[in-house]
Amino acid sequence: MIALAVETSCDETALALYSQERGVIGDVLLSQAKIHQEFGGVVPELSAREHTKNLLPLLDLLLKQTKFDLRKIDFVAFTLTPGLILSLTVGVSFAKSLSYALKKPLVPVHHLEGHIYSVFVERPIPYPFLALIVSGGHTDLYLVEEFGKYVFLGGTLDDAVGESYDKVARLMGFGYPGGPIIDRLAKVGKPAYHLPRPMLEDKSLNMSFSGLKTAIRRIVESGDYSKEDLACSFQRAVLDVLEAKLLKAVQLTKVKRVVVVGGVSANSELRERFSKLSGIEVFIPHPKLSTDNAIMIAYAGIERFKRGITAPEDINPEPNTPLETFGRVWS
Ligand code: KG4
Ligand code: ZN
Repeated sequence: MIALAVETSCDETALALYSQERGVIGDVLLSQAKIHQEFGGVVPELSAREHTKNLLPLLDLLLKQTKFDLRKIDFVAFTLTPGLILSLTVGVSFAKSLSYALKKPLVPVHHLEGHIYSVFVERPIPYPFLALIVSGGHTDLYLVEEFGKYVFLGGTLDDAVGESYDKVARLMGFGYPGGPIIDRLAKVGKPAYHLPRPMLEDKSLNMSFSGLKTAIRRIVESGDYSKEDLACSFQRAVLDVLEAKLLKAVQLTKVKRVVVVGGVSANSELRERFSKLSGIEVFIPHPKLSTDNAIMIAYAGIERFKRGITAPEDINPEPNTPLETFGRVWS
């Protein structure tokens, strides 16, 4: 079974050909980071235009690289939600056109489901497991009972962790995306600044990161600070909160298998620290699969297609459907 997957939910235009039996046949990805850099974040209209401009040339490149005959795919998988609505619309329309021309079914995928299953591209993981999703738009904890059965346990009440990285980098005068920049700086810094660990003692599995950003703004505005030390202190605070909430989720659910996914799971300190947690098994995807890509969408698409899930022709992108209610509108 072979999927062509389309991912355009944010600022990465990505396509992948993926075989259930053989794994990745090929994948192409064009990051728009340079275009959004000067704005300190993704500009939705620019993102949609770039997707429109680049999807067909990327498909050409994918087919040239793989020498694959597109007529041999079984279906077209695509990200339906969540994401920037204009960007999603471009990808959904592209997927629909391909599906129509090739006479192949359309399989909608939830972007966060894609992130969760990014780990499965490298190895299957037995159910149940916990998923800590840390991306630019989301910071959520889920219990995954089986494919398609997600129980929301808690999440951020304000900024997502990736968003927080991006905002802190911008405060320090850096461009977008901030995560990799802070990651690099933190490696040579010391945790010299005392920053809050919001909601650490709170009994729930909810989190909050906006206070951390405010504390950093004050330090930056004082004018005299070390960027390396501030990056290191910020990262330490974020990871302390994420680790505490993850361990609390393990304690509450008694589930000791965990996947940590989404763009922030590419972070080097997170990877080192979380993989050393004792008493639990932690799975983190390869950094290439942590950040947005179409391989994870293809993988989740195959799991959906195997279960007979396809989309009607008039399906529309949805800006922010929760993972646990995905599919209720159109299936
Ligand atoms: O999952 P993703 O690629 O896109 C969304 O679904 O949002 O995540 C993007 C986020 C950005 O906020 C980016 O700054 C962050 O992931 N990120 C990182 C690292 N690489 C990307 N954050 C911390 N450390 C990194 N190495
Ligand atoms: Zn993502």
